[in-house]
Amino acid sequence: MIITPSILTADFCELGQTMDEAIEAGIDWIHLDVMDGNWVVNRTITFGPALIRSIRERVGPDIFVDCHLMVTNAEENWNQYVDAGVDLVIFHIEAVKDPVSLIDKLHSRGCQAGAVLNPATPASAILPYLPNLDLVLIMSVVPGKGGQSFMAEMEEKARTFRSAIDSQIDSGGLATKLMIDGGIKAHNAAQVAEWGIEVAVVGSGLINDKGSIAENLAEIHDALSA
Ligand code: DX5
Ligand code: ZN
Repeated sequence: MIITPSILTADFCELGQTMDEAIEAGIDWIHLDVMDGNWVVNRTITFGPALIRSIRERVGPDIFVDCHLMVTNAEENWNQYVDAGVDLVIFHIEAVKDPVSLIDKLHSRGCQAGAVLNPATPASAILPYLPNLDLVLIMSVVPGKGGQSFMAEMEEKARTFRSAIDSQIDSGGLATKLMIDGGIKAHNAAQVAEWGIEVAVVGSGLINDKGSIAENLAEIHDALSA
């Protein structure tokens, strides 16, 4: 399972060093949480395309960068994130009126397209779009901030997507990646890997006062290989 850091618990004045430290530790995928002060329930504002562009320049072209858009108007400003250099735009299915068109537009610009759903949203909201999606992201917390508790009740949804994606691959379709976000730490990483998750976002479990990114990542890898 790939581990990708969310930077919400980082010191934003030190982001360049944090990126260097993550890459030094072996991270090759960065997850950027964009909140516009409107879409998430607690009205958080995080950052936007300007910071993402700087992060892309800092990490270089070989690191995979995604942006998780928790915004009301992804259909109007998705192109700003592509311009900023992300490899994958992940949009909330609850916030987009015409997913087919947004996926097509992203692909026409050479950007991967992912869809994410809140804990309360059923898998059926995304399943019709699966054949064209590069990634599905399952939220295992209500989006809005780092450090929340993992919702183990997402298991059924994860297994639903896993079997739908496996059938799609068996019939020659796209190998849509399955990702999870929220509350993942060393103690539950193996659990979600067993559900069939291929990429796990880890925020407070990687960037914290307890250890370096390398130490925290090693703890997760140990748990995965136990
Ligand atoms: C939730 C965000 C995150 C999250 C991850 O709103 O999408 O990516 O903050 O952080 P942890 O791992 O601390 O839950
Ligand atoms: Zn996220």
